[in-house]
Amino acid sequence: MVNKTIILIFAAIAHAAPVTFHKDVLPILQKHCQSCHRPGEAAPMAFLTYESTRPWAKAMKQAVLKGSMPPWFAEPHVGQFVNDRRLPEGARKTLVEWADSGALSGDPADAPPPVRWEEGWGIGAPDTVFEMPVDYDVPATGEVPYTYFVIPTNFAQDQWIEAAEVRPSDRTVVHHVIAFIREPGSKWLSGIQPGRAFVPGGKRFSTGAGEDGMADDWMAGYAPGSIPSALAPGEARLVKAGSDIILQLHYTATGRASKDRTRVGVRFARGPVHQRVMVAAALNNQFVIPPGAPAHPVNASVTFARPVELLSMSPHMHVRGRSFAYRAVYPDGRAEMLLSVPRYDFNWQLRYELPEGKMLPAGTRIECEATFDNSPNNPHNPDPSAQVRWGDQSWQEMMAGFFDIAVPVGVTMSDIFPPPPAKSPARAAASEE
Ligand code: HEC
Repeated sequence: MVNKTIILIFAAIAHAAPVTFHKDVLPILQKHCQSCHRPGEAAPMAFLTYESTRPWAKAMKQAVLKGSMPPWFAEPHVGQFVNDRRLPEGARKTLVEWADSGALSGDPADAPPPVRWEEGWGIGAPDTVFEMPVDYDVPATGEVPYTYFVIPTNFAQDQWIEAAEVRPSDRTVVHHVIAFIREPGSKWLSGIQPGRAFVPGGKRFSTGAGEDGMADDWMAGYAPGSIPSALAPGEARLVKAGSDIILQLHYTATGRASKDRTRVGVRFARGPVHQRVMVAAALNNQFVIPPGAPAHPVNASVTFARPVELLSMSPHMHVRGRSFAYRAVYPDGRAEMLLSVPRYDFNWQLRYELPEGKMLPAGTRIECEATFDNSPNNPHNPDPSAQVRWGDQSWQEMMAGFFDIAVPVGVTMSDIFPPPPAKSPARAAASEE
């Protein structure tokens, strides 16, 4: 006791003013942590008050020193991203000092006013809301396979969407959600019935923009802590008349059974639309990851036949995903790294958003390189003795470098990625190995 008091006195002298929760720590939590660490959000514990935060002081120190919190995986020296979550050095030091100096409360009068978190839709009042037709029962334990619902839009005419937001009703059990657009005539997930959860059994299933048997585009996505991204004025996504929304839901069991009924809110474009925003991908579905391989490389690339504006990138792999990088190779041969994720984490499906659209001239190639860790050293590896191929189940893998692009209205996917002369439409997808 005496020793501890002496240490505290020394600490207090060393820093003229000791680090306290209310004065120093709370502002950092408000800015960098509470978006997830508050009731109803993704994180299991709230960092709103001294009482609820104090028990986590040591764990917070470890998490920020290790860089595991806040979740952000881009290599700092490559590119700049508007949604960069990294903690500034000063804030990190403050959290460490607070934990090391006894996690003091300080004077509640020093606290900043509480943040008034958005309770309703982040995009503002939606013009229309699509809802899952029934609750999904999320079990307390066990693995929940990717689950799909179809929601017909019943749009009688083509619609331009300037904002869309996915809102799970229970965020604690939702890993991620993607609201895909399935255009009329598409054969993708043809077995899915309105009103019922669907778990695809087929092997050839795949996610994302491109081939036959895949989604045509994305409307919106949700991942823990994600903030619905606003498009620039004059930009919008096109939803053709008669399209369906296909929700892909990845639930996680948390030890407590729950129900979720996810909704998608949509705002239609108010003004004239000049640029169409859509999702494309460089993906490879032909790979074979050998048993035990610690860093098996898989590549994919796409070349734009038209100029495009690159808005964001979202690498996607499963539990054996180890690293993922995007680079642009320009028509003059110059190459530029766009994003490097050296330690990919399947738990966080992050989107890396560029500060402003990056113009890529016609002839630019996007090259993605992923590595997969199928060794026993990968703690998430369900079976190092397996040979692993593409598939949507968590014991299978995916290699998809998704990205958002903006193009002048009227330019279509097949203008950007002209189909190869002979074979059928492998539109955005280019496979190689
Ligand atoms: C994008 C959402 C998000 C943000 C932002 C975030 N956290 Fe977390 N945090 C989580 C989730 C979800 C968990 C639950 C465990 C997991 O899934 O990793 C968690 C777990 C933790 C844990 C438990 C131990 C651990 O490392 O897993 C600590 C400590 C923690 N967060 C501290 C912080 C601090 C400090 C900040 C801000 C500087 C922060 N988090 C910001 C989502 C977030």
